[in-house]
Amino acid sequence: MASVGAAIVPLRGLDDWSSAEPHQAAGQPDDRRVIEVLARRYAFEPAVLEVTAGEPVRLVVRSADGVHGIGIDSLGIKRQIPRGGEAVTLEFVARQAGRFPIVCSEYCGNGHEEMKGTLVVHAREGAGSPPQERR
Ligand code: CUA
Repeated sequence: MASVGAAIVPLRGLDDWSSAEPHQAAGQPDDRRVIEVLARRYAFEPAVLEVTAGEPVRLVVRSADGVHGIGIDSLGIKRQIPRGGEAVTLEFVARQAGRFPIVCSEYCGNGHEEMKGTLVVHAREGAGSPPQERR
């Protein structure tokens, strides 16, 4: 079965894919890992996100209170998370294994500086075949 590999799946509206619609369309499995993150004063939940290098990941981030931000410098990600629980979707493929800081990129109160998380990127098992050649 062919895999979408590293192909970028076009973003769809929240209403589309958060509904009962299955994540896997027939004949084209979406192997993108979906991780839901809650931003709140003053933490990310979960605080540690674990992914695998080369793995397509979709983060769905919501705020439980006011405005926050999510910043992952190693991936060039910086997005505002609006108040009210509206989901912000970010897609990335981490190429480099390691531990990378996640910060809140919007001032959100006294604990803003302590609002941090960690992205843990595990090396691929049997590294040597690029993800786009996985079939
Ligand atoms: Cu949350 Cu700054």
